[in-house]
Amino acid sequence: MMKIERLPSVPSTNDYIRKYLPARENIALFADVQTAGKGTKGRSFLSDMGGVYLSILVFYEDMAPANAFRIMAHAAVSVCRTLEGCGISPEIKWPNDVRVSGKKIAGILIENGLREGKIDHSVIGIGLNVKNDVSALGGIAVNMESLLHDPPSAEEVGKALLENFRRPSAFGEYLSHAHFLGNRIRVREGEEEYFATARRILPDGRLEIDRGGKVFALSSAEITIGN
Ligand code: BTN
Repeated sequence: MMKIERLPSVPSTNDYIRKYLPARENIALFADVQTAGKGTKGRSFLSDMGGVYLSILVFYEDMAPANAFRIMAHAAVSVCRTLEGCGISPEIKWPNDVRVSGKKIAGILIENGLREGKIDHSVIGIGLNVKNDVSALGGIAVNMESLLHDPPSAEEVGKALLENFRRPSAFGEYLSHAHFLGNRIRVREGEEEYFATARRILPDGRLEIDRGGKVFALSSAEITIGN
């Protein structure tokens, strides 16, 4: 059984959960609100009342850094299962957004701790829009409430999310939600921007693309699906 903590408000559950590191036990931490929610690439993550803000601290016996993407894929699958359980059909936007009809419904931020060349532990942070107001994001985000007649509470969704996280997943389940594969995408790599076709996601998490007949794999980039 994993220990579960719930706090009314913290700056960021990903940061707060570090205080549990010395105990070296897996733990899940929910916050009702985050006052300084963190997104990827140093961005912030809007975390008002009504959403799920969850960090899970997981320790590993023998996790090679080459397998880091499996952690991300599993977190994304857990979110997809939770949404599907409520009758919502999600899609994964590589590498770590979960979307519904092109709008972001969840974000994932994973922070790994290394020790002797291995991943010793991960802080797996998941933010899921349930009933929180996302209107400030100007139409790029969506919450569960706007998609359902009888939406569950953030607490119910959080519980389901943790249960889904506890069930193992295979990489194929991640891929089955990556609907954009085979489509044209816009890629932004630093200053450079170009169009390409998304071919497949490799087991190490790199996105293989075809750019004007040249095939190569991206390890990090920002993609836009469609135009
Ligand atoms: C992203 O979309 O850029 C990632 C967002 C990750 C948000 C979650 S909410 C719980 C955890 N605590 C944080 O500060 N961030 C993650």
